[in-house]
Amino acid sequence: MHTIVLATQKGGSGKSTLAIGLALAAIRAGHNVRLIETDPQGTVSNWKRRRPYAAPIIEPIYAAREVEQRLQSLDREGVTVAIVDTAGGESAATNSAIRYSDLCLIPTRPSIADIEATAATLRVIRAWHKPFAYVLNQTPIRAAARLAGAENALSNEAALDIADIVARPLIVMRNDHQDALSAGLAVCELAPGGKSAEEMRGLWQWTESRLGNAVAATDEPIIEEFVEIPAIIPKWAALPSFDAGSARFLRTPARV
Ligand SMILES: Nc1ncnc2c1ncn2[C@@H]1O[C@H](COP(=O)(O)OP(=O)(O)OP(=O)(O)O)[C@@H](O)[C@H]1O
Ligand SMILES: [Mg+2]
Repeated sequence: MHTIVLATQKGGSGKSTLAIGLALAAIRAGHNVRLIETDPQGTVSNWKRRRPYAAPIIEPIYAAREVEQRLQSLDREGVTVAIVDTAGGESAATNSAIRYSDLCLIPTRPSIADIEATAATLRVIRAWHKPFAYVLNQTPIRAAARLAGAENALSNEAALDIADIVARPLIVMRNDHQDALSAGLAVCELAPGGKSAEEMRGLWQWTESRLGNAVAATDEPIIEEFVEIPAIIPKWAALPSFDAGSARFLRTPARV
């Protein structure tokens, strides 16, 4: 089972929207998907209540200590993709979800304040040496220079090449995402032939390929007690971004 975590401390970046969009794109690509909600705000559960279909099953896991065991159970049950929607801000459940992830996606709007706000999440991801990528979300349709600037800023923030850490395609700001959320649908159900649906399918394909060929952040030792100290970003997580010159790229083998 692959576990994909949508995480960033910044509220409103698109974690829930992308978790839903990716979940349905993955189902349509043939996966047995479980959508996991660690955010007590309940965006995904509320979406499910409005939903006219049974799938996907939503799995609420709000306690950090339950994350590992529940993921193991899902794996045994034959789930092939678990997509985890996390809360904004800091939380032990988010930290735990990151810890047991195979890939972390960091949604961000293309503004400097949003990009800077990803730094804290990135430190946690790096502390657990997890593969990650940014998803530029809610991008304007036409603003090539602005988007190139945002990608450069992300690349600098992570001290890695854009191609390695900015997911494709960028997800444009469109009403379909908001209409789908309020109808209990995903964009690929609301308007299957639309641009938003096409982008989400593309993002799933990018994500899936990255799962088999991921860039890990560092090779420092994992600090085991992190999850035991909820909601506190420890001192070692506040280290400055590592130097690109000393970055080591780990290619993880494709898994079934
Ligand atoms: N690409 C997009 N185009 C248009 N609207 C979008 C897009 N992505 C997200 N939104 C809208 O932006 C708002 C915030 O998105 P969402 O709830 O997914 O963010 P979040 O990161 O999960 O927020 P929180 O931190 O509060 O959980 C929602 O109203 C959603 O419909
Ligand atoms: Mg949310």
